[in-house]
Amino acid sequence: MCGIVAYIGHREAFDIVVKGLKRLEYRGYDSAGVALMNGDLRIYKSQGKVSDLEAISEGKDKSGSTGMGHTRWATHGAPNNENAHPHLSQSGDISIIHNGIIENYVTLKEGLIQRGHSFISDTDTEVLVHLIEDIMEHSKLSFVDAVRSALKQVVGAYAIVILSKNHPEHLIAARKGSPLVVGIGEERGEYFFASDATPIVEYTKKVIYLKDNEIAIVENQEMIIKNIENVVQAPYIQELELNLEQLEKGGYPHFMLKEIYEQPKSIFDSFRGRFNSATSEFHMRSIEEYGDKLKDIKRLILLGCGTSWHAGLVAEYLFEDFARLPVEVEYASEFRYRNPVLYSDDLVLAISQSGETADTLAAMDLAKRKSATVFGVCNVVGSSIPRLSDAGAYTHAGPEIGVASTKAFTSQVTVLTLLALGIARLRGTMNIKAIASVMRELEQIPEKVEKALKLNDEIIVLSEKYKNAQNFLFLGRGYNFPVALEGALKLKEISYIHAEGYPAAEMKHGPIALIDENMPVVVVATNSEHYEKVVSNIQEVKARKGIVIALVTEGNTSLNDLVDHVLEVPETIEYLSPLVNTIPLQLLSYHIAVMRDCNVDQPRNLAKSVTVE
Ligand code: G6P
Repeated sequence: MCGIVAYIGHREAFDIVVKGLKRLEYRGYDSAGVALMNGDLRIYKSQGKVSDLEAISEGKDKSGSTGMGHTRWATHGAPNNENAHPHLSQSGDISIIHNGIIENYVTLKEGLIQRGHSFISDTDTEVLVHLIEDIMEHSKLSFVDAVRSALKQVVGAYAIVILSKNHPEHLIAARKGSPLVVGIGEERGEYFFASDATPIVEYTKKVIYLKDNEIAIVENQEMIIKNIENVVQAPYIQELELNLEQLEKGGYPHFMLKEIYEQPKSIFDSFRGRFNSATSEFHMRSIEEYGDKLKDIKRLILLGCGTSWHAGLVAEYLFEDFARLPVEVEYASEFRYRNPVLYSDDLVLAISQSGETADTLAAMDLAKRKSATVFGVCNVVGSSIPRLSDAGAYTHAGPEIGVASTKAFTSQVTVLTLLALGIARLRGTMNIKAIASVMRELEQIPEKVEKALKLNDEIIVLSEKYKNAQNFLFLGRGYNFPVALEGALKLKEISYIHAEGYPAAEMKHGPIALIDENMPVVVVATNSEHYEKVVSNIQEVKARKGIVIALVTEGNTSLNDLVDHVLEVPETIEYLSPLVNTIPLQLLSYHIAVMRDCNVDQPRNLAKSVTVE
């Protein structure tokens, strides 16, 4: 994971880099560090957050119009000062920041140790910067050529920025497998580098997304991009759509709460302009351009990790019901190491908020090599997953900063609903009227989500009551089984309470043994085909003195005497119920985490963009 930022230009670099690191802190917050160039090379680093780095650099010389910074999610080596980036070469002349993993670092390190190098950290990154210097010393290659030569020896993934005290006019950046965006400043010679566009957006809207094996070299105020074979590349300069307000908390105490409350809009933005409910027509490029292919696919394989995998589970029901397709939902991390049987008439659809999840990318790559058509549903524009996909759709949820995913999930489900309906139309598995009726209901969902958000006060009261529980169980059936999984995941992620999501009927095959008077059980019991059966499951919990918090459809008072708490959510069709039912579960985990004094936006050990396997 990790986030990297760098600046070269005419302004003071420190503030730009530190501000950028704060925007990238969602990628890891085990340690933070900066390197500044102003004749000499000064490095400040600290275990912990960017604010700790600010504290330790207080009163020190922060001058320099070239600088770079790093926020770390520890992979190789503990989260301490020594392992914090930037790292230095043996002589201290060259400095590097790195996001990714150098898989062959042990072999490279052994060779370097034999040649007299000694290392301060346990990181793979330090090996790379030593290697560059070693090449410069032994082969007399130039700085840039030595970087290129070192990168050729690296197995693994990297986004790096390198500075050298002896080459103050240079800044070198490169990527392979980890994202790196270059912002082109308005003044000549000004360039910004970052793991995503958020640290760049307030300075320039002109960006280049570096491709794998590309190296950006700034020298004497000019930048050129070359590939690893030293061939000059013509960069594609894009205009950013992101704006600064989207990156601020906007008056909310946490990004997560802001993002939960943004869902009426983010869901709307995810379907806006993409269909016409009067004619049941779709305006989605993937459906229009890939119509012939999609008509004939025989199987759909959905890939994702974490919350995105849960969105895939909801989509399994949607694609089966609407498009009558056989569907498999796979953890990308498992799929990539299997030897899956794939055919050219399979559609593989990767779901990802960040577009950078290493396992999802590797799984897509495998599917492509096995000749399947690969689509992506992704939130971050220009990220690696959409670039690797044959086609797909953006979720348009806007930037999601809270590490625990909320609005990205409901936007993914929205877009997957559209794709399922679109493919159903192409395949003729649903008539136009039926498609239109789902579309019309989808148009109502933002309003219903708005109403579900009004449960907030009731949920605060509930959270107060159960904030000290040791365990939670979440139950649901059918479309709401993934909702139960997502409810449990949210609670685990941010409040550190152990929680399990289960299909309600499976409870009797294990989790029922855990139920006693201390176990809160959240049951999604909204109107559905399985409602009566879910009520029987509630009876089973109550018979064992469990505490039941039931999510029911507005107006249903029939469970009031049976359960401990009832949360009424607006009625919708079962197909779309996950979009509404997820909301109270997000609020519940949020409030419990706040009451337990947990860091809601940056939960321990987690990162938003998991660019390592
Ligand atoms: C991390 C995040 C989760 C996210 C998962 C998949 O674990 O903390 O919120 O669901 O990665 O990420 P993606 O960006 O591929 O959706």
